[in-house]
Amino acid sequence: MTQQAGATAVAHTNIALIKYWGKADPVLNLPTTSSLSLTLKEYYTKTQVEEADVDSLLINELPQDAKRVHEFLNILREEVQDFPPLRVISTNKVPISAGLASSASSFAALTAAVAKFNNWQLSLEDLSRLARRGSGSATRSFFPDFAIWEKGHDDTSSYATHFDTPDMPIALVVCKISGLVKKVSSTEGMRRAQTSPNYAAWVEESARQLVDMEDALKKADIKRVGDIAEANSLGMHNLNLTAKDQRFTYFNAQTMQILDEVKALRQAGYTAYATMDAGPNVKIITTLNEANAIKESLAKRFLKIQFDIATPGPGISYE
Ligand code: PMV
Repeated sequence: MTQQAGATAVAHTNIALIKYWGKADPVLNLPTTSSLSLTLKEYYTKTQVEEADVDSLLINELPQDAKRVHEFLNILREEVQDFPPLRVISTNKVPISAGLASSASSFAALTAAVAKFNNWQLSLEDLSRLARRGSGSATRSFFPDFAIWEKGHDDTSSYATHFDTPDMPIALVVCKISGLVKKVSSTEGMRRAQTSPNYAAWVEESARQLVDMEDALKKADIKRVGDIAEANSLGMHNLNLTAKDQRFTYFNAQTMQILDEVKALRQAGYTAYATMDAGPNVKIITTLNEANAIKESLAKRFLKIQFDIATPGPGISYE
């Protein structure tokens, strides 16, 4: 096996329409539920790896604490094959740690770049399974458009695959309320959520919502997709609010105002449904036709919030 001098991979981030919010096994990152996501064209991470003296990490040209990356690289060394220390150089077109899932694209790009560096011949499913150990949501960032992460029951059975649908004009209006680093990490947030008395019911509800979501996607019924995604996301955030151990919320006042606005837009006849992750930002599920009007209407009312339109994106690629 010969290593390349350097290798580069690009992974796009994804937004879960059915969320991963709880671990059945915190070491292996086995989830309590299966999840389903949309990959986004506009947000991505490009990661280059090259041989170095120690594992190190540079994001957008700034040196970072490499602890999490080093631990992940050691998992790959153990699980697949040993390789030398690496300098990891990432360009991140996703706000870090603010609920826009930068860890999804980061760990997917890193896994793919390391595999290319080492000339490992791995399937997308194998890459997805390995990336899971870095960040659960990274499992879904190898695939274009929609991906489903089957929760599985052990290390080998828990990975994502592409979920095939007819073409549909789905779009997101991303409301960037805060790009600040989140207060509660997703790992800690999940741990707390799992202490909610509502947790078992959410897991059951999530399985039903996934079946519904698959059906809505196969029929390209964007309104139904949005309706199910919004219910699933609010269910996830309800767990945080009702955690027995240190209840909390990722929402802030602006999150609530945007949620009201989404409801008003819906009453006015728009396709508009909200989904929120581990941060205050709201992503509004709508159609390509309506996205601009929704963005303009919100931009007029919320002068300090930045709005982007995001559309379905590609799977992993190499440079
Ligand atoms: O991949 P993690 O450990 O950052 O967890 C992601 C959790 C959510 O973004 C809130 C939901 C999801 O399924 O992506």
